[in-house]
Amino acid sequence: KLGLQTKIFGKSVHYEESVESTQKIAHRLAGDGASEGTLVVAEEQTFGKGRLSRSWHSPKHTGVWMSLILRPNIPFHQAPQLTLLTAVAVVQGIEEATDLMPGIKWPNDILINQKKVTGILTELQAEADRIHSVIIGIGINVNQKNDDFPEDLRQKASSLFIESGQPVSRARLIQHILAKMEQLYQLYLDKGFTPIKILWESYAVSLGKEIKASTLTETLYGKALGITDEGVLLLEDNAGQIHTIYSADIEIP
Ligand code: BTN
Repeated sequence: KLGLQTKIFGKSVHYEESVESTQKIAHRLAGDGASEGTLVVAEEQTFGKGRLSRSWHSPKHTGVWMSLILRPNIPFHQAPQLTLLTAVAVVQGIEEATDLMPGIKWPNDILINQKKVTGILTELQAEADRIHSVIIGIGINVNQKNDDFPEDLRQKASSLFIESGQPVSRARLIQHILAKMEQLYQLYLDKGFTPIKILWESYAVSLGKEIKASTLTETLYGKALGITDEGVLLLEDNAGQIHTIYSADIEIP
């Protein structure tokens, strides 16, 4: 049972032992009119989804695999802001539940010692410019040991257990993250994206650094200048030209 401190987030929880993807269930519930703050959590995903059509390794009992339904009254193009908001909430939740200090790599990978411990996947149900619901998927590697990761992930992925040397309670972690998310979401609805952006930038590990950005069509090298009010990354290449990047993989060589 979750000892939740929240008012709306996670008041309705769908807990599942094994699912293909919590995103899929949340999409169905949202389509059926589930209320804002409805949470789907699973012990295992057999078909976890990552960004850019990748898969997400989600083994049994070791991680937090969850999807949260939001119904914000915002235009379509502002949805990426919610991804950045979520990244801030997850960083702050991890900070409260452990003594780790994670950073954020644009747009929403959470890193500890340069290894990825969390991924966030935001999906929308929308008609024209009107958002019907936003499904925020959060995957956190919590208690995995090194051997639990497939070999190809070991160099770049890690878990809270590996980084802190201590097992972490997943229920407590979820409580902290939902509490932070609800606070930040309220702040966002009241005051807009600016305060969230300032927090996000304070955790960002890539800003001011030379990065490599691989988009679907090109690879760019340059300095990460910051993000716009829409949550888009600004990159200055070596010729001084500024590029706006909506979707890419970032490496900090
Ligand atoms: C990424 O590629 O970094 C995003 C990974 C998102 C994984 C989470 S786990 C819970 C939710 N259900 C899914 O199938 N994916 C997201």
